[in-house]
Amino acid sequence: MANAQPALDAPPSPPSGELQATGTLEIKDSRTNKNYSVQIIQGGVEGDTATRAMDLRQIKTAPDEFGLMTYDPAFMNTASCKSAITFIDGDRGILRYRGYPIEQLAEKATFLEVAWLLRHGELPTQSEYDQWVRDITFHTYVHENIKNFLQGFRYDAHPMSMLCSTVAALSSFYPEAKAIHDPDQRNISIVRLLAKLPTLAAFCYRHIKGLPFIYPDNDLSYTENFLSMVARMSEPKYEANPVFVKALEVLFILHADHEQNCSTNAVRAVGSSQVDPFSAVAAGVAALYGPLHGGANEQVLRMIKEIGHPKNVPGFIDEVKSGKGSRLMGFGHRVYKSYDPRAKIVKALADDVFKQVGMDKDLEIALKLEEAALSDDYFVSRKLYPNVDFYTGLIYRSMAFPTDFFTVLFAVARTAGWLAQWEEMLNDKEQKIARPRQIYVGYGERPYESQLKTKFPSAKKDVLRK
Ligand code: CMC
Repeated sequence: MANAQPALDAPPSPPSGELQATGTLEIKDSRTNKNYSVQIIQGGVEGDTATRAMDLRQIKTAPDEFGLMTYDPAFMNTASCKSAITFIDGDRGILRYRGYPIEQLAEKATFLEVAWLLRHGELPTQSEYDQWVRDITFHTYVHENIKNFLQGFRYDAHPMSMLCSTVAALSSFYPEAKAIHDPDQRNISIVRLLAKLPTLAAFCYRHIKGLPFIYPDNDLSYTENFLSMVARMSEPKYEANPVFVKALEVLFILHADHEQNCSTNAVRAVGSSQVDPFSAVAAGVAALYGPLHGGANEQVLRMIKEIGHPKNVPGFIDEVKSGKGSRLMGFGHRVYKSYDPRAKIVKALADDVFKQVGMDKDLEIALKLEEAALSDDYFVSRKLYPNVDFYTGLIYRSMAFPTDFFTVLFAVARTAGWLAQWEEMLNDKEQKIARPRQIYVGYGERPYESQLKTKFPSAKKDVLRK
């Protein structure tokens, strides 16, 4: 039979990663009356259309001029890379890892299966998966000096600043990780990071609580072992609550990647200097710490605490709208302009967890907040819907994680995405060191005339005088 069509449910062929020219953009420069042609390019079946910003450099008024560039604070409309890892359609509320819908992965996959998928582009075979789990389990232990390093932090240190420093410190334990162009070194570094992040995170927790560190139990699954290192006391074998294990597995999958978000961009940008992956991932942890990014789940709980009672919700919403109070944390997203698909899954998960531990006042406040915001024109007209962080904090708290610790849980999961994105960046021949341009708006040249009487004032002298 000629021209046979593929079966409707046949999986699409793997993407080539090439950008296709789909048309041209004709530009007329009114300063010179010259016309320019710029290619319009598109990537993949779902691909966005774009032009290469470098094409604009040909547009100039004199041959020795720099040429036109684009001005795009906060990368609102700039693609910094091609990526085949995560697809988001913010208007339709779609999120897929390597083509697989997040809803299916959250329901059926394991976190380590997703970590493999993100990195390799395909689901693992049984033998690949077995080896992957074995390798990661084998590397869960950290050097004993890491314990001394953590002991140096104050008892009230924020666990994200501890985690960030400790991940960065790992770089000094594995100097061979600098060989980022060696696939074997990349592999072992990726395995080490995925394996050790839960251990470091749990050690940070135990330090804050003043509890002895619990070593990994390599008989347990990734999430069970993590819960064991966090919660185990004198029992010889830790048995985690299966509802909590499932919840953590799903939350880790939901948080595993989210294309070019602030922390992933940080990992790519820092990694583009060809530093080792431990240092690049530490940059991701630092970016994630911020309250507008991963720190939002922590802020949601603080906000709910401040509201205090469901009856105070209308007053709080008015304050947000007036711009005098804080933002409604856990609402809004740069990309999703309809419901965040992760938030839907998390809300259903919250129901499961609360069935187990009981409903509390804070959940009531959260539900009331969501209801009030979704029926208020301020939020509706700005397309502000609950994001993934709105309910995750409530789940984590019901599992008895302290508020400070929520972003650490996010970081453990996002490490899978950071590493997949880092490796994709290294293998992308078009990538170079990330180095944006600026539009200089400061002074022109002026002569140096010092206003100082003394160049080296002594701080010590001032202290002694007091
Ligand atoms: N509460 C009240 N107003 C908001 C909010 C909010 N949460 N988010 C945005 N707005 C308003 C904002 O004031 C602006 O109004 P106007 O047009 O009148 O000036 C409009 O909506 C557009 O806001 P924007 O700041 O231009 O939007 P953005 O895309 O730069 O910001 C965001 C995205 C996530 C930083 C922002 O929505 C926000 O601050 N949300 C609260 C923090 C949060 O929940 N962050 C977690 C994001 S999801 C997980 C992650 O990425 O880590």
